[in-house]
Amino acid sequence: MSFPKQVKIVEVGPRDGLQNEASTVPADIKVHLVEKLADAGLPVIEVGALVSPKWVPQMATSSEVFTRIDKRSGISYPMLVPNLKGLELALAAGVQEIALFAAASETFSQKNTNCSIAESIERFNDVIDQAQAAGVKIRGYVSCVLGCPYEGKVSFDTVSMITQKLFEKGCYEVSLGDTIGVGTAGEAQDLVEILMKHVSAQQLAAHFHDTYGQALANIHAVMQCGVAVVDSSIAGLGGCPYAKGATGNVATEDVVYMLNGMGIETGVDMDRLLEAGRFISNFLGREPVSRAATALLRKKAG
Ligand code: HMG
Ligand code: MG
Repeated sequence: MSFPKQVKIVEVGPRDGLQNEASTVPADIKVHLVEKLADAGLPVIEVGALVSPKWVPQMATSSEVFTRIDKRSGISYPMLVPNLKGLELALAAGVQEIALFAAASETFSQKNTNCSIAESIERFNDVIDQAQAAGVKIRGYVSCVLGCPYEGKVSFDTVSMITQKLFEKGCYEVSLGDTIGVGTAGEAQDLVEILMKHVSAQQLAAHFHDTYGQALANIHAVMQCGVAVVDSSIAGLGGCPYAKGATGNVATEDVVYMLNGMGIETGVDMDRLLEAGRFISNFLGREPVSRAATALLRKKAG
């Protein structure tokens, strides 16, 4: 059994986490959260989403948040972009990396972006051309890779087709979203093995929501195939507004605890990470959705 020596953690809490909060989180709090995540040593922090504020009101302050954060060298601050309008906003704010997203299920694609899978891929052409012309890096997401809230089972061939298209079009990495956290370890591994017929595991990221408590097991499973990029959310924040009942991404604290225990480097400082988690959880008025954070904070409190 072989695991990567190093894992890159992509912190998605300020975007994927907060996009689903019912009450408005002020820009000030988001800016502070991003700074605290940077203090913890996270190498990539997804700051927000330049999507329609009518669709996802919580992300309406994303441009402001991006403009106000201190951009530290060595940290990437990607922003989610669905279309040309989003790219225009990104370029105006000085964003250097964007994330595009498509879904492996037709119904989810319609609910999330008001277009079919084919239309969403078509829509990427102009966005990608203009982003590349401006020197902006592009990451891709595929949603519903292990199941859809509307259609149930999803075809791995469809996931593979979309993943290949995203790479062909110029994405440097594709993140595999188990949007509703239904997948289990064997399925996650089977999917990555199918994708590895066309792309290398090092180009893939695991983006697993923890709705069914399977995310850590699934990450452990795909790391054995060579996946070395993991998306996670501070304090386990979040869900998807278009996947009812889906809970947050796997908590960053839980991922770092597991990787520390396995001797896999992340460059993340657990104490500072706990601080960031405590900060946002205090603001939201609830405990972190992370077993490791809860246990470690209790231990610290004596
Ligand atoms: P639409 O209604 O078809 O778009 O939505 P439209 O072009 O007809 O525009 C409608 C209105 O939105 C117009 O304003 C546009 O100007 C405005 P109006 O004229 O009515 O005042 N608009 C925008 N405003 C700001 N930024 C933009 C933008 N685009 C249009 N970029 C659209 C199509 C794609 C815009 C919409 O469906 C949308 O914003 N969807 C985003 C939904 C979303 O953010 N979902 C959550 C993120 S995905 C996710 O969480 C999954 C992931 O984590 C991976 C996983 O877990 O699987 C990534
Ligand atoms: Mg997600």
